[in-house]
Amino acid sequence: MPPVFDKKTVRDIAPDVAGKRVLVRADLNAPLKEEGDAIVVSDDARIAGSVPTIKLLVESGAKVIVCSHLGRPKDHDPKLSLAPVAARLGELLGKPVQLAPALVGPEVEALVDGLGAGDVLLLENSRYEVGETKNDPELAAQLGRLADFYVNDAFGAAHRAHATTEGVTHHVGSAVAGLLLEKEVSTLRGIIEAPEHPLVVVLGGAKVSDKVAVIDSFLKVADAILIGGAMAFSFYTAQGHKTGNSLVEEAGVALAAKALEDAKDSGCELVLPTDLVLGREFSADTEVQELDGVDVPDDWMGLDIGPKSAADYAARVKSAATVFWNGPMGAFELAPFAAGTRTVAQAMADADGVTVVGGGDSAAAIAEFGFADDVTHLSTGGGAALELVEGKELPGVEALNNV
Ligand code: 3PG
Repeated sequence: MPPVFDKKTVRDIAPDVAGKRVLVRADLNAPLKEEGDAIVVSDDARIAGSVPTIKLLVESGAKVIVCSHLGRPKDHDPKLSLAPVAARLGELLGKPVQLAPALVGPEVEALVDGLGAGDVLLLENSRYEVGETKNDPELAAQLGRLADFYVNDAFGAAHRAHATTEGVTHHVGSAVAGLLLEKEVSTLRGIIEAPEHPLVVVLGGAKVSDKVAVIDSFLKVADAILIGGAMAFSFYTAQGHKTGNSLVEEAGVALAAKALEDAKDSGCELVLPTDLVLGREFSADTEVQELDGVDVPDDWMGLDIGPKSAADYAARVKSAATVFWNGPMGAFELAPFAAGTRTVAQAMADADGVTVVGGGDSAAAIAEFGFADDVTHLSTGGGAALELVEGKELPGVEALNNV
């Protein structure tokens, strides 16, 4: 039995919101790009993920006020305005989304007063306010005064105790979860608390230190953890292998050694690649060779897992009942070193079990290879997804009303 989601959700308040002001905290922190003179959204996955909750509220006749952060602005950087996001959200909702000039203040209050049932107003980047990341109680109270109900759907920011994610919940009558937040938390918590076995975890990326808490957590519940990416070189160093010019996180070596030790009595297999793809340099047009082994010669660097390891990882992924993947297997942004990550992505897409991809680079990789629709769940949260599978409580979730 998967764990029960024990917070009230937007479905609980939907019957009561007609004509009422509902503040939705979404994570609309989408990547942007310049197109001519304009700044546009380059990947709308997070915006699209926020649509079901907003739609439900619109259809229920609420006056919908949406807020989000975008990037990490220093002062009031106009390049981090939510204007391109308002345009994209409007397209996805099929109705205009007005952008307020700020998060709070008299102009915002006037715009909120002018909202009709089913209207959507987006407040400007919450991090333009210095009080946001400080979880300033006065800012939280001002936000709370804008709304009758509060819905947190910002899974990607739920690990932050900020004014829009935590503080505001103390200043509204009702604080509930949005549909995306509910799905993310239920799915990711389900993997740790009640997984179908075999549970296979694929972890890549550059640094062991970023993933050590995740490894600790999965050593207790998973059947196998498959390691890839540059962090494998901290493990090889701990085992006494030569790493040539490969990227080795020195601080990760002791952590890797401890993880190898912990794995011995864990009942979980900790698997390292047994072959590698090497390059002379970190570049797409460098000299390339495959190495059947893991002792990297001088003047070479390991930039991908090798074909034998990729085939082994793919077979394990395909025969698992549950798979969690976070972090690329190699430098997939360089064509000669993309095969390991692509093979794992393809296996995730082909697998019959439950397949969950943590946010960040692995989500970007699976989207780039065209498999985004072929996995069970593609998380919109990077840091938040990792903290959840580490077993941590997320302040943005804990602050919501219990059922
Ligand atoms: C993310 O991109 O992971 C979330 O939107 C949170 O952003 P932050 O790390 O700047 O708080």
